[in-house]
Amino acid sequence: MDEIATVSADQAAPPLTDPLGVLADAQARADETLTLAARHLDPSLVEVLRILGFDRSYRSARGSYLYDADGRPYLDMHTGEGFASLGHGHPDVKAVLQTMLDTDLVDGVQIHYSVLSGMLAEALCARLPDGLDAVFFASTGAEAVDSAMKFARAATRRPRLLTCDSGYHGVTLGPLSLVGDEFFKEGFGPLLPGCSRVPFGDLDRLEAELRSRDVAAFIVEPIQGRLVTLPAPGYLQAAQELCRRHGTLFVVDEVQTGLGRTGRWFALEHWGLEPDIVTVGKALSGGYMPVAAMVTRRSVFQRAVGTLERSYVHQSTYGRNKLSMAAGLASLRVIERDGLVERSAELGATILAGLRELQHRHELIGEVRGSGLMLGIELQAPRSRKAQLAVKLMRMASEGLFPQLVVIPLHRDHGVITMAAGKNDVIKLLPPLTLSDAEAQTFLAALDLVLSDCEAGVGKNWSVVRDIATATLRRGGQGRSGER
Ligand SMILES: Cc1ncc(COP(=O)(O)O)c(C=O)c1O
Repeated sequence: MDEIATVSADQAAPPLTDPLGVLADAQARADETLTLAARHLDPSLVEVLRILGFDRSYRSARGSYLYDADGRPYLDMHTGEGFASLGHGHPDVKAVLQTMLDTDLVDGVQIHYSVLSGMLAEALCARLPDGLDAVFFASTGAEAVDSAMKFARAATRRPRLLTCDSGYHGVTLGPLSLVGDEFFKEGFGPLLPGCSRVPFGDLDRLEAELRSRDVAAFIVEPIQGRLVTLPAPGYLQAAQELCRRHGTLFVVDEVQTGLGRTGRWFALEHWGLEPDIVTVGKALSGGYMPVAAMVTRRSVFQRAVGTLERSYVHQSTYGRNKLSMAAGLASLRVIERDGLVERSAELGATILAGLRELQHRHELIGEVRGSGLMLGIELQAPRSRKAQLAVKLMRMASEGLFPQLVVIPLHRDHGVITMAAGKNDVIKLLPPLTLSDAEAQTFLAALDLVLSDCEAGVGKNWSVVRDIATATLRRGGQGRSGER
């Protein structure tokens, strides 16, 4: 909203208004953002933001940057877990959406197909392996995964669903049953029956499960998003082959890895995979509209719901609304036109090389890994006894707190947004595919300075995180120090 105001101010246009005063109220009440969130949304998340110093009042966002109330820019190297893959407020996606709003296109969600939904389905299928030609549109990644779960069961008439340890597929009840970390599930059971897991990379365990021939689908992220875990060479091809042999559908969850993120249109291209189902989400939004998709073979689609009687048993009210469809089409066109897939591969390699160079000079970096612009930095405790003790305290207080040693000062001192990947020692980077070379270098230089500060024992970085650890321990529980 304030972004609109900023743009209009830049262009000396009259201030934007709306007839119901929503924008004016939102601008007038901007300072109440976190108070309102604490009162009516999630006070514990507001508290986490406060503790970590992330409780900034961001007022606008454009390209690779967010801007706070004082106009300070923050370089966004995480893009809300990849939804703003084109950067914030991409002007061409915005223009398409504004034009769509001005048309009288039909949005009869249940009784009609807009041409936009057919066009987006066609465009997605054209970029996926041959044979993936049937699409179901949803609003979130979890809903796309949920659709894959249902279609796989119905198409195979088998009950079981298999996923991998450490996998992440969303947190509505269906996908949550597939998630590979118990932490997300605590208190929400009983979850869906028939869901089990194997270690990512373990073909023997996978085959042992598939041999029972009751597994409808094996659902896997090609690169696991939580820790940016790359598959061992040959693993995914062999897993696909095992699925074929045992009549199990091979489902690749590309909600995070899709649409250029890993340096290919879809990560499955790295290994020449030909899955039975692919799920897509996040970046398809263009950073604006909720939109996700499950893409499958026509034969799977028809076996699942392909009769006149069953043609409406799986649906989603807003699944193919015209603004989401337009945002998806606009996003694909921007990615294509601006060569963002190639850009992701190229810039990702540059950043990875920069991180490796930092790894040689900084003992805090244990490992760096990634593909395209999906990157992970795994920290390790420095050798000094004092640092080892401090890291031990942090881990006791909350798994996932240690990376805040770097994430907090990057944000506080250098205006760079990164994210601790969860209950582990990984910092995750999902920068916009539109990131410039200069912005990439700004990030690497800031990280270099923060690591040097930490290694020089600069009190502030360690003491901030140590204080959080101590306070967390005093409160007698593990704190929420990061996200997935
Ligand atoms: C691989 C994967 N699948 C599914 C999801 C769920 O997507 P959403 O949060 O849009 O429901 C995510 C979200 O991070 C994801 O990374």
